[in-house]
Amino acid sequence: MARVHVIANQKGGVGKTTVTVNLAAVVADTLGGTADSSPVLGVSTDPQASMLEWAQRVGDELPFDFEQCHDNPTLLSKLREIKQYSHIFVDTPGSLEDESILQTVLTQADDVIVPLEPEPMSFSPATRSIQRVIEPSGVPWRVLLNNWDPRDGSGDLDQTRQFVAARRWPTFNTVIRHYKLHTRASAEGVTVVQYAKNRTALEARQDFFRLALEVLGSRGQGPRHSTDVNGVYTETGE
Ligand SMILES: Nc1ncnc2c1ncn2[C@@H]1O[C@H](COP(=O)(O)OP(=O)(O)O)[C@@H](O)[C@H]1O
Ligand SMILES: [Mg+2]
Repeated sequence: MARVHVIANQKGGVGKTTVTVNLAAVVADTLGGTADSSPVLGVSTDPQASMLEWAQRVGDELPFDFEQCHDNPTLLSKLREIKQYSHIFVDTPGSLEDESILQTVLTQADDVIVPLEPEPMSFSPATRSIQRVIEPSGVPWRVLLNNWDPRDGSGDLDQTRQFVAARRWPTFNTVIRHYKLHTRASAEGVTVVQYAKNRTALEARQDFFRLALEVLGSRGQGPRHSTDVNGVYTETGE
Protein backbone atom coordinates (compact mmCIF):
# COMPACT_ATOMS: atom_id res chain seq x y z
CA MET A 1 0.00 0.00 0.00
CA ALA A 2 1.20 3.48 -0.82
CA ARG A 3 2.34 5.84 1.89
CA VAL A 4 0.48 9.12 1.52
CA HIS A 5 2.48 12.27 2.33
CA VAL A 6 0.46 15.48 2.43
CA ILE A 7 2.07 18.92 2.09
CA ALA A 8 -0.13 21.47 3.82
CA ASN A 9 -0.29 25.04 5.11
CA GLN A 10 -3.28 27.22 4.36
CA LYS A 11 -1.04 30.19 3.67
CA GLY A 12 -0.17 30.64 0.00
CA GLY A 13 3.39 31.11 -1.18
CA VAL A 14 5.14 29.10 1.57
CA GLY A 15 6.47 26.47 -0.82
CA LYS A 16 3.90 23.66 -0.82
CA THR A 17 4.03 23.15 -4.57
CA THR A 18 7.82 23.54 -4.71
CA VAL A 19 8.29 20.94 -1.97
CA THR A 20 5.71 18.51 -3.37
CA VAL A 21 7.17 18.48 -6.88
CA ASN A 22 10.83 18.29 -5.88
CA LEU A 23 10.37 15.75 -3.10
CA ALA A 24 8.31 13.51 -5.40
CA ALA A 25 11.00 13.96 -8.05
CA VAL A 26 13.96 12.90 -5.89
CA VAL A 27 12.08 9.94 -4.42
CA ALA A 28 10.92 8.76 -7.86
CA ASP A 29 14.37 9.28 -9.36
CA THR A 30 16.06 7.38 -6.53
CA LEU A 31 13.60 4.49 -6.29
CA GLY A 32 13.65 4.06 -10.05
CA GLY A 33 10.93 2.50 -12.09
CA THR A 34 10.36 1.66 -15.71
CA ALA A 35 9.45 3.82 -18.70
CA ASP A 36 5.78 3.18 -18.12
CA SER A 37 5.57 2.68 -14.38
CA SER A 38 6.81 4.95 -11.59
CA PRO A 39 6.78 4.08 -7.88
CA VAL A 40 5.64 7.63 -7.10
CA LEU A 41 2.40 9.49 -7.73
CA GLY A 42 2.15 13.28 -7.35
CA VAL A 43 -1.34 14.61 -6.71
CA SER A 44 -2.52 18.21 -6.85
CA THR A 45 -5.68 18.98 -4.90
CA ASP A 46 -5.29 22.74 -5.38
CA PRO A 47 -7.97 24.29 -7.62
CA GLN A 48 -5.31 26.81 -8.68
CA ALA A 49 -3.48 23.88 -10.30
CA SER A 50 0.03 25.34 -10.27
CA MET A 51 1.46 21.83 -9.91
CA LEU A 52 -0.49 20.76 -13.01
CA GLU A 53 1.00 23.62 -15.04
CA TRP A 54 4.47 22.78 -13.78
CA ALA A 55 4.00 19.07 -14.57
CA GLN A 56 2.80 19.89 -18.07
CA ARG A 57 5.86 22.04 -18.72
CA VAL A 58 8.16 19.21 -17.61
CA GLY A 59 6.28 16.80 -19.88
CA ASP A 60 7.81 13.38 -20.48
CA GLU A 61 10.78 14.15 -18.23
CA LEU A 62 8.53 14.21 -15.14
CA PRO A 63 9.94 11.35 -13.02
CA PHE A 64 6.64 10.60 -11.28
CA ASP A 65 3.03 10.01 -12.36
CA PHE A 66 0.70 12.93 -11.82
CA GLU A 67 -3.01 13.54 -11.18
CA GLN A 68 -4.89 16.82 -10.80
CA CYS A 69 -7.91 15.95 -8.68
CA HIS A 70 -9.32 18.93 -6.76
CA ASP A 71 -12.74 18.26 -8.35
CA ASN A 72 -12.66 14.51 -7.79
CA PRO A 73 -13.75 13.95 -4.15
CA THR A 74 -14.16 10.22 -4.74
CA LEU A 75 -10.52 9.80 -5.72
CA LEU A 76 -9.41 12.16 -2.93
CA SER A 77 -11.08 10.01 -0.32
CA LYS A 78 -9.55 6.80 -1.71
CA LEU A 79 -5.87 7.69 -2.05
CA ARG A 80 -4.92 5.07 0.51
CA GLU A 81 -6.52 2.37 -1.60
CA ILE A 82 -4.30 3.00 -4.62
CA LYS A 83 -2.05 -0.03 -4.77
CA GLN A 84 0.43 0.54 -7.57
CA TYR A 85 2.60 3.23 -5.92
CA SER A 86 5.03 3.14 -3.01
CA HIS A 87 4.65 6.85 -2.24
CA ILE A 88 2.01 9.45 -3.00
CA PHE A 89 2.86 13.15 -2.48
CA VAL A 90 -0.15 15.45 -2.26
CA ASP A 91 -0.09 19.22 -2.83
CA THR A 92 -2.97 21.08 -1.15
CA PRO A 93 -4.66 24.48 -1.55
CA GLY A 94 -3.22 27.61 0.02
CA SER A 95 -6.53 29.11 1.01
CA LEU A 96 -9.05 28.87 3.82
CA GLU A 97 -11.94 28.54 1.34
CA ASP A 98 -10.74 25.14 0.24
CA GLU A 99 -10.48 23.72 3.75
CA SER A 100 -12.86 20.85 2.98
CA ILE A 101 -10.41 19.54 0.36
CA LEU A 102 -7.63 19.60 2.94
CA GLN A 103 -9.87 17.88 5.51
CA THR A 104 -10.67 15.08 3.05
CA VAL A 105 -7.03 14.59 2.07
CA LEU A 106 -5.96 14.42 5.72
CA THR A 107 -8.21 11.39 6.24
CA GLN A 108 -5.91 9.63 3.74
CA ALA A 109 -2.56 10.87 5.06
CA ASP A 110 0.23 8.89 6.70
CA ASP A 111 2.15 12.07 7.48
CA VAL A 112 1.95 15.80 6.91
CA ILE A 113 4.75 18.18 5.93
CA VAL A 114 4.06 21.80 6.90
CA PRO A 115 6.32 24.23 5.01
CA LEU A 116 7.05 27.40 6.96
CA GLU A 117 9.08 30.39 5.79
CA PRO A 118 11.61 31.71 8.32
CA GLU A 119 9.80 34.99 8.48
CA PRO A 120 7.63 36.21 11.40
CA MET A 121 4.75 37.18 9.08
CA SER A 122 4.13 33.54 8.31
CA PHE A 123 3.90 32.38 11.92
CA SER A 124 0.26 33.08 12.66
CA PRO A 125 -1.26 31.61 9.48
CA ALA A 126 0.80 28.45 10.06
CA THR A 127 -0.32 28.32 13.69
CA ARG A 128 -3.93 28.51 12.58
CA SER A 129 -3.56 25.63 10.10
CA ILE A 130 -1.72 23.47 12.61
CA GLN A 131 -4.07 24.09 15.54
CA ARG A 132 -7.38 24.04 13.70
CA VAL A 133 -6.88 21.50 10.95
CA ILE A 134 -3.65 19.50 11.01
CA GLU A 135 -3.24 18.59 14.69
CA PRO A 136 -6.94 17.64 15.15
CA SER A 137 -6.60 15.17 12.25
CA GLY A 138 -4.36 13.00 14.43
CA VAL A 139 -1.89 12.43 11.58
CA PRO A 140 1.84 12.76 12.45
CA TRP A 141 3.11 16.08 11.15
CA ARG A 142 6.33 18.06 11.02
CA VAL A 143 7.24 21.63 10.19
CA LEU A 144 9.69 22.15 7.32
CA LEU A 145 11.61 25.42 7.23
CA ASN A 146 11.68 26.42 3.58
CA ASN A 147 13.12 29.26 1.54
CA TRP A 148 15.83 30.39 3.93
CA ASP A 149 18.42 32.55 2.20
CA PRO A 150 21.82 32.10 3.93
CA ARG A 151 22.89 35.49 2.55
CA ASP A 152 20.40 37.12 4.93
CA GLY A 153 22.25 35.66 7.92
CA SER A 154 20.79 33.36 10.54
CA GLY A 155 18.66 35.90 12.48
CA ASP A 156 15.28 35.01 10.98
CA LEU A 157 16.13 31.31 10.95
CA ASP A 158 17.09 31.36 14.64
CA GLN A 159 13.97 33.31 15.54
CA THR A 160 11.82 30.84 13.62
CA ARG A 161 13.52 27.89 15.29
CA GLN A 162 12.87 29.47 18.69
CA PHE A 163 9.22 30.06 17.80
CA VAL A 164 8.83 26.45 16.68
CA ALA A 165 10.68 25.07 19.72
CA ALA A 166 8.60 27.17 22.13
CA ARG A 167 5.48 25.51 20.74
CA ARG A 168 7.15 22.13 20.79
CA TRP A 169 6.30 21.65 17.16
CA PRO A 170 7.98 18.65 15.58
CA THR A 171 10.44 19.82 12.92
CA PHE A 172 12.58 18.40 10.16
CA ASN A 173 16.33 18.82 10.66
CA THR A 174 16.62 19.68 6.99
CA VAL A 175 16.14 23.31 6.03
CA ILE A 176 15.36 23.94 2.36
CA ARG A 177 17.46 26.90 1.33
CA HIS A 178 16.44 29.61 -1.08
CA TYR A 179 17.84 29.12 -4.57
CA LYS A 180 16.88 31.04 -7.72
CA LEU A 181 16.99 27.65 -9.44
CA HIS A 182 13.94 26.59 -7.41
CA THR A 183 12.10 29.84 -8.13
CA ARG A 184 12.66 29.45 -11.88
CA ALA A 185 12.09 25.69 -12.10
CA SER A 186 8.35 25.77 -12.76
CA ALA A 187 8.59 28.31 -15.58
CA GLU A 188 11.54 26.44 -17.07
CA GLY A 189 9.76 23.11 -16.90
CA VAL A 190 12.31 21.25 -14.77
CA THR A 191 12.35 19.52 -11.39
CA VAL A 192 15.29 19.37 -9.02
CA VAL A 193 16.60 16.14 -10.59
CA GLN A 194 16.97 17.85 -13.97
CA TYR A 195 18.98 20.84 -12.75
CA ALA A 196 22.34 21.38 -14.43
CA LYS A 197 25.39 19.60 -13.02
CA ASN A 198 27.12 22.47 -11.29
CA ARG A 199 27.90 23.16 -7.66
CA THR A 200 24.94 25.42 -6.94
CA ALA A 201 22.52 22.93 -8.47
CA LEU A 202 24.07 20.10 -6.45
CA GLU A 203 23.62 22.08 -3.23
CA ALA A 204 20.03 22.93 -4.12
CA ARG A 205 19.33 19.28 -4.88
CA GLN A 206 21.01 18.10 -1.70
CA ASP A 207 18.39 19.78 0.48
CA PHE A 208 15.67 17.69 -1.13
CA PHE A 209 17.66 14.45 -0.81
CA ARG A 210 18.17 15.17 2.89
CA LEU A 211 14.47 15.87 3.28
CA ALA A 212 13.60 12.66 1.43
CA LEU A 213 15.77 10.65 3.85
CA GLU A 214 13.93 12.16 6.80
CA VAL A 215 10.48 11.65 5.27
CA LEU A 216 11.07 8.07 4.17
CA GLY A 217 13.09 7.19 7.26
CA SER A 218 10.22 7.93 9.61
CA ARG A 219 8.13 5.05 8.17
CA GLY A 220 5.02 7.16 8.63
CA GLN A 221 5.35 7.14 12.40
CA GLY A 222 5.52 10.12 14.63
CA PRO A 223 8.98 11.68 14.63
CA ARG A 224 11.22 11.78 17.68
CA HIS A 225 10.31 15.34 18.29
CA SER A 226 10.67 17.95 20.98
CA THR A 227 7.45 17.16 22.85
CA ASP A 228 9.25 13.97 23.76
CA VAL A 229 10.96 15.56 26.76
CA ASN A 230 12.55 12.44 28.16
CA GLY A 231 13.91 11.22 24.89
CA VAL A 232 11.71 8.15 25.25
CA TYR A 233 9.97 7.15 22.06
CA THR A 234 7.05 4.78 22.07
CA GLU A 235 6.82 2.75 18.90
CA THR A 236 3.35 2.92 17.46
CA GLY A 237 4.16 0.05 15.10
CA GLU A 238 2.78 -0.54 11.65
N1 LIG B 1 13.36 27.07 -1.46
C1 LIG B 1 12.96 27.97 -2.38
N2 LIG B 1 13.89 28.66 -3.11
C2 LIG B 1 13.50 29.56 -4.04
N3 LIG B 1 12.23 29.87 -4.33
C3 LIG B 1 11.26 29.22 -3.64
C4 LIG B 1 11.57 28.23 -2.64
N4 LIG B 1 10.39 27.77 -2.15
C5 LIG B 1 9.40 28.42 -2.79
N5 LIG B 1 9.92 29.29 -3.69
C6 LIG B 1 9.17 30.21 -4.58
O1 LIG B 1 8.19 30.88 -3.80
C7 LIG B 1 6.98 31.00 -4.53
C8 LIG B 1 5.86 30.28 -3.77
O2 LIG B 1 6.16 28.89 -3.73
P1 LIG B 1 5.02 27.79 -3.99
O3 LIG B 1 5.68 26.47 -3.95
O4 LIG B 1 4.22 28.13 -5.20
O5 LIG B 1 4.12 28.00 -2.68
P2 LIG B 1 2.64 27.48 -2.34
O6 LIG B 1 2.40 26.27 -3.16
O7 LIG B 1 2.67 27.23 -0.86
O8 LIG B 1 1.72 28.60 -2.70
C9 LIG B 1 7.24 30.39 -5.91
O9 LIG B 1 7.61 31.43 -6.78
C10 LIG B 1 8.41 29.46 -5.66
O10 LIG B 1 9.21 29.29 -6.81
MG1 LIG C 1 0.86 25.87 -4.51
